Amino acid sequence: MRVIQTIAELRSSLSTERHISLVPTMGNLHEGHLSLVQAARRREGVVVASIFVNPLQFAPHEDFARYPRTLDDDCDLLAEGGCDIVFTPGPQEMYPVPQEFRVQPSATVADVLEGAFRPGFFIGVSTVVLKLFNIVQPTVAVFGKKDYQQLLVVRQMVGQLCLPIEIIAGETVRDASGLALSSRNGYLTEDERSEATALSSCLLRVAERVRSGGRDWSTIEATAVDSLQARGWHPDYVAIRRRSDLGAPTRDELLVVLGAARLGSTRLIDNIEI
Ligand code: PAF
Repeated sequence: MRVIQTIAELRSSLSTERHISLVPTMGNLHEGHLSLVQAARRREGVVVASIFVNPLQFAPHEDFARYPRTLDDDCDLLAEGGCDIVFTPGPQEMYPVPQEFRVQPSATVADVLEGAFRPGFFIGVSTVVLKLFNIVQPTVAVFGKKDYQQLLVVRQMVGQLCLPIEIIAGETVRDASGLALSSRNGYLTEDERSEATALSSCLLRVAERVRSGGRDWSTIEATAVDSLQARGWHPDYVAIRRRSDLGAPTRDELLVVLGAARLGSTRLIDNIEI
């Protein structure tokens, strides 16, 4: 496996490749990321993973500075996982000048839920993902369903900007307690870690109520928020939405329940397809 830091070297290494699968990450890798690499590996051609903690997608009060950076361990995992090239640009390589051109995603999918609580987040994500796509020129890119809204934003960007890239969705990987794997789980104290499973349990209960005929969306959502609050969480939202565009459900479409809540100083997100 090669570890490459510059755009020029990456481009020259990939210049003769016809099939490239990209797994964009911010590092601090876990089994969830490795399952995305495996999905990429199942495709023909070369597998590239990028590791870049993107400053553009963090608000000033967020955890950019303390976001875990574990490059050596990440490279070991990627090598074992069958990755061919790791692209690890520094901030100067990705943003040699202030990034004034940015991608403005559609408000319908990007200004709700995460976008409402993290204004500008999806502009930062879309901009870096588009730059990575332009740098790597992949035929396939893999994103996890754990970041459900991000996956939708990227899919829309690829569709509306006519990018010739197939987007593959990787299933969320959970630990034995049901907690969705996330780099931010590392912030949790031991006690918080055992409590953290309550988020997925709460979303599962919502999914069950809907599956068994519940259609009073706002009551179901409010009950879920209350139950998290009662356990000491600070929920931002629990929302039942259409899978296709995160709009409010109108008929019997495919649905997803998404939740975001703070436990202590850690903000966790999760979702369950209904
Ligand atoms: O999901 C992530 O890790 C990031 O948002 C991504 C897609 C790598 C962009 O920085």
